[in-house]
Amino acid sequence: MNIFSAFELITPRLKLRFVEPGDAAALFHLFSDPEALRYWSSTPWLHLAQAADNIEQTLKAYRDGTALRLAMVLPDGELIGTVTLYDFDRRNHRCQVGYMLARPHWGQRYMQEALPALIAHGFGALELHRIEADIHPDNIASERILEGLHFQREGLLRERWFVGGEISDSVIYGLLRKDWEAAIHPAR
Ligand SMILES: CC(C)(COP(=O)(O)OP(=O)(O)OC[C@H]1O[C@@H](n2cnc3c(N)ncnc32)[C@H](O)[C@@H]1OP(=O)(O)O)[C@@H](O)C(=O)NCCC(=O)NCCS
Repeated sequence: MNIFSAFELITPRLKLRFVEPGDAAALFHLFSDPEALRYWSSTPWLHLAQAADNIEQTLKAYRDGTALRLAMVLPDGELIGTVTLYDFDRRNHRCQVGYMLARPHWGQRYMQEALPALIAHGFGALELHRIEADIHPDNIASERILEGLHFQREGLLRERWFVGGEISDSVIYGLLRKDWEAAIHPAR
């Protein structure tokens, strides 16, 4: 039995749905783009087989509850990105968030639409208390998105990632459920 059973989240322009085996080509397109992977924690994919492996891991994570990854899909069915809650620490009601949007769709505020839906699910159905993000210090667009969603910058961890022969620091952001609720219900 899956710990995460398939569901969808609907936003004004997007459907967020579970990843499927048929998404391999779209995911390969996303994760083989060196520009999109510039601040990512692994190098761009080179082979379609990496997409199939990644989907296998995603399906396994639905089963064992280690990650909840949703595909961002346009009304015409095009998969343009993914948003993920992962590294669940259930005893402490916390996890991490990650996200990836295809470059042709940058600059249209799609992530500012997808992430709130996932975060609301995290603080609601998943009963999270805290969501963390670990981003590259030069990833300005990602910082802006997190700050717009009321994440607070909490610290800098030095030389945390080796990617493609380069070492990089991590900026750590955190969002508490009470801050999220205060932001979405400011009158309360
Ligand atoms: C990070 C990512 C989701 C951003 O999506 P995007 O559509 O390009 O973001 P936007 O264009 O909406 O930019 C977000 C904000 O940053 C601002 N911004 C973007 N680049 C900027 C720059 N170089 N300098 C200053 N501000 C910048 C935008 O003006 C926008 O601000 P606003 O919300 O006040 O309008 C997307 O670039 C992506 O998927 N990148 C690859 C994966 C990744 O890095 N994921 C994050 C790590 S977990």
